[in-house]
Amino acid sequence: MSMDKKILLIVSGGIAAFKALELIRLLRGKSYAVTCVLTEAGAQFVTLLSLQALSESKAYTDLFSLTDESEMGHIQLSRSADLIVVAPATANILARMATGLADDLATTLLLATDKPVLVAPAMNVRMWLHPATQANISTLSARGVTFIGPDEGAMACHEFGPGRLSEPPAILAAIEAALDAPKPLSGKHAVVTSGPTHEPIDPVRYIANRSSGKQGHAIAAALASLGARVTLVSGPVNQPDPSGVSIRRVETAEEMLAACQSALPADIFVAAAAVADWRVEQASTGKIKKKEGVAAPSLSLVPNPDILATLAKPGPNRPSLVIGFAAETDDLLANAQAKLTRKGCDWIVANDVSPATGIMGGDENAIHLISKAGVEDWPRLRKDDVGRRLAARIAKEFT
Ligand code: C5P
Repeated sequence: MSMDKKILLIVSGGIAAFKALELIRLLRGKSYAVTCVLTEAGAQFVTLLSLQALSESKAYTDLFSLTDESEMGHIQLSRSADLIVVAPATANILARMATGLADDLATTLLLATDKPVLVAPAMNVRMWLHPATQANISTLSARGVTFIGPDEGAMACHEFGPGRLSEPPAILAAIEAALDAPKPLSGKHAVVTSGPTHEPIDPVRYIANRSSGKQGHAIAAALASLGARVTLVSGPVNQPDPSGVSIRRVETAEEMLAACQSALPADIFVAAAAVADWRVEQASTGKIKKKEGVAAPSLSLVPNPDILATLAKPGPNRPSLVIGFAAETDDLLANAQAKLTRKGCDWIVANDVSPATGIMGGDENAIHLISKAGVEDWPRLRKDDVGRRLAARIAKEFT
């Protein structure tokens, strides 16, 4: 299986860099072709010579790379690999990856690649738990980067906690899983809505809601990683674009409906957006002025089109699996069941968005998957894990 597979292994700085040598030995034992790139910081811990000897292949660092061969040659290096592995990955390289810096050979390759990337972080426990690192991890996983570890345990810096590089056999297993990742949704087209809509009151004011787009974007990323072609129709959000999906940015519910319809035909439709139920009947073309002694304006609202119900209508263009969300604060399951029938969709993903749950805008979600077959209660998971689990569940419908 591994005979023809090529791994590009980026070794960044840190005490754990020595474990990369063991990883190369394991990979070579399984006949993977390994090419190594050593960062300047990594070179403080292991030598290029060791990487070269164990990988039986020329290894690269900044010292040689950009001077003795053309930069294009190295971009090619990242393109010809089947998988890029960063092990160990320091907090620093994660930050550079998340921001898209290309200030050395390793980060240039990571920015230029179109191949899957697996990262094995290793750092001091406080660096790992720092919100900056955690935000970088979220950004990278939303872009489709996968992670192995870090493990919890005693660290070289005499502290204890998460931050240890995973053991080489576990990294090897993650590499094999990433390379053999099944693509059960290849050939399928999924349209996913995400985020809030903004309904204008006048050119500077709008009606909106607290949706962050985290869940919809995570679903889009997960469907793409299972091989689906994904069109993500997104309201205004502050989320990184998931990798491998095509994005249509919209503001209003009417624009969202039009973008969804023009993306058809599709096999799968996931309505994760929090679409405004009403819009202002006649948005003012000029900014509404506050005037002394004049009563506050009242807004006349009209209903927005129901995107989910429209796409779920029977007809030749109906996607074969239509999934809606029910964000409720009361009588969650009863309301969600009723919504399944009223909207004509196949599944409803129900979640309790009472403020106490912290779900709206938060990183976690606790959902119930409702279909005609019954109700599945899922444990509370990170939104990206909910995305992956939902994508896997969707894939099961198509196999
Ligand atoms: O009726 P309610 O807004 O609670 O239904 C929520 C579900 O319907 C979500 O899947 C949401 O994306 C979808 N929806 C829609 N268009 C609307 C309102 C809701 O697609 N105008």
